[in-house]
Amino acid sequence: MLILGIETSCDETAAAIVEDGSKVLSNVVVSQINIFAEYGGVIPEVAARNHLEVMMPVVKKALSDANKTWDDIDAIAVTHTPGLLGSLLIGTLTARTLAIIHNKPLYAVHHLKSHIYANWLETEKTPEFPLLSLVVSGGHTQILKMNAHNHFEIIGTTRDDAVGECFDKVAKILGLPYPGGPAITAAGRDGGDKNKYNFPKPKVDGLDFSFSGLKTAVLRTVQSELGLPISHPSHDLKNHLNKQQIADFSASFEKTATDYLLEKLEKAYTENPETKSFVVAGGVSANELLREEAAKRFPNVFFPERKFSGDNGAMVAAAAYYEIKNNVEPTDPYKLNIMPRSEIK
Ligand code: KG4
Ligand code: ZN
Repeated sequence: MLILGIETSCDETAAAIVEDGSKVLSNVVVSQINIFAEYGGVIPEVAARNHLEVMMPVVKKALSDANKTWDDIDAIAVTHTPGLLGSLLIGTLTARTLAIIHNKPLYAVHHLKSHIYANWLETEKTPEFPLLSLVVSGGHTQILKMNAHNHFEIIGTTRDDAVGECFDKVAKILGLPYPGGPAITAAGRDGGDKNKYNFPKPKVDGLDFSFSGLKTAVLRTVQSELGLPISHPSHDLKNHLNKQQIADFSASFEKTATDYLLEKLEKAYTENPETKSFVVAGGVSANELLREEAAKRFPNVFFPERKFSGDNGAMVAAAAYYEIKNNVEPTDPYKLNIMPRSEIK
């Protein structure tokens, strides 16, 4: 079964063609990272306009790269929630129009479900159920339990910011570009001491997280290290930091953030000892330290191939494949609605 997956929830315009939920025949991603690098984050209005410009060329390229025509496509899948409203609108309107024109069933897929299913792409060994999934992206930080395909139970979530957002905000304080994750890793590796600064991990009950607390801890430590008052504007701190301090703050923050995530996952494992595999998903799953530490601490841990850890259309197609296998009804293209924020079900 061939599925065309379309993804536009944030700042990547993406389309891919995937066979039977695993074999990726094409995977086209146009990123707007260069546009937003200097702003330190995504501007929703600008993102939507850029999606509009490249959406159809991206879909066409996905078909031509896979050497397929519309006749070969069995279904269209699209991210419909959560994400930036204008960005989601471009992807969903495109998908529903294509579904109507080409008479294909349409599947509206939750973005986090897609991130999890990136772990089934291009891999011979697949995760076993029951599994625990750590979803770490720019918009979400959650621990989910899956007893079977397409069954999700959220057992932990962030009470405020997401971990990726925290990487991005800390990068901004340190004067590093967007996206913050890779920039912090690179800065920390440039001679940074991960034990130089000790940031307290926010104490939140159960399996929930708080990342706004960790971001504030970094901000206060930077101000105190520079001998500046807590009223000193965060956007100016970068002008006072030297290269070594930026490297030390980056390495120390990355260590604390990844430890915090894995400590919660360990707690989830203690509460769910029947777990057979661990699946890490979302943009932050590209993080090297998180990968190394998770592999040390958990048996049978899965990460998506790096090219599938950020937003892409292939993971959307994979998630839709498992919806179809679980007899989920297609969405009426005339009725498809978008929900900027909704929980995975
Ligand atoms: O999943 P994603 O591409 O988009 C959302 O669904 O939000 O995640 C984007 C997030 C950004 O916050 C970015 O800083 C983070 O993933 N990220 C990383 C790394 N690569 C991307 N965080 C830590 N380490 C990385 N190597
Ligand atoms: Zn994402």
